[in-house]
Amino acid sequence: MYVCICHSLTDRQLREVVNRGASSLAEVQCHLPVATCCGHCEDTAREVIDSCVEQCRAPRAA
Ligand code: FES
Repeated sequence: MYVCICHSLTDRQLREVVNRGASSLAEVQCHLPVATCCGHCEDTAREVIDSCVEQCRAPRAA
C-alpha cells in the first residue's frame, strides 16, 4: 500500500530499508524521503517501521 503519497512510497519500500538495517524513521529517511513533505504519513510510516523492526528482531528458529 502507499504510505507516503507525496513521494509515492509504499510500505514494501519502507520494509526493505528496515531489512537492510534501519530501525527508526530517521534512519529510514536517510534512504527514502518518507514524511519529509506534508508529514501526513509520519504516523503510518512509524507504525510500518516499528512493526517491521519487531518482526526482524523476533527470535528465529535455528
Ligand atoms: S504523504 Fe508523506 S510527506 Fe506527504
